[in-house]
Amino acid sequence: MLEFQQSGDERGHLVIVEGMDDIPFDIARIFYIYGSGNDVVRGQHANRKTQFVLINVAGSCKVNVKDGKGNEAVFVLNRPHTGIYLPAMLWKDMYDFSADSVLLCLASEHYDAAEYIRDYEEYVKIVDEETP
Ligand code: TYD
Repeated sequence: MLEFQQSGDERGHLVIVEGMDDIPFDIARIFYIYGSGNDVVRGQHANRKTQFVLINVAGSCKVNVKDGKGNEAVFVLNRPHTGIYLPAMLWKDMYDFSADSVLLCLASEHYDAAEYIRDYEEYVKIVDEETP
């Protein structure tokens, strides 16, 4: 988990996230997810190349992260100044979205559908092959 400095003043809060400074990569792409019902599971993929930082800038959600070797952990994103860093080749599921959830995703790469692994069995097989 990453804690970003809150730099607000009497006018309100301000959180600054600079690539290669507050997070360990240069930001090539941002996207944000909102309007997902609380029965929706998003993500459900691993990325061969892309690293992400996810920040719930409003509301909350949970992220379940798996490493393909039997380890998994659940992280709650519920603060605009807290993010989770996800290196490449982790399997992630985002779920339990609050109605007001706005999930900001910072990515290290431009979108390339070919580097997404969307089949869990295939992902585990690749992890096994690459790090036996
Ligand atoms: P998807 O990867 O399923 O979103 P999530 O990570 O929330 O599960 O993406 C949904 C669709 O949007 C899919 O058709 C791919 C497309 N997409 C892009 O074209 N560019 C992007 O940067 C992203 C994240 C998705």
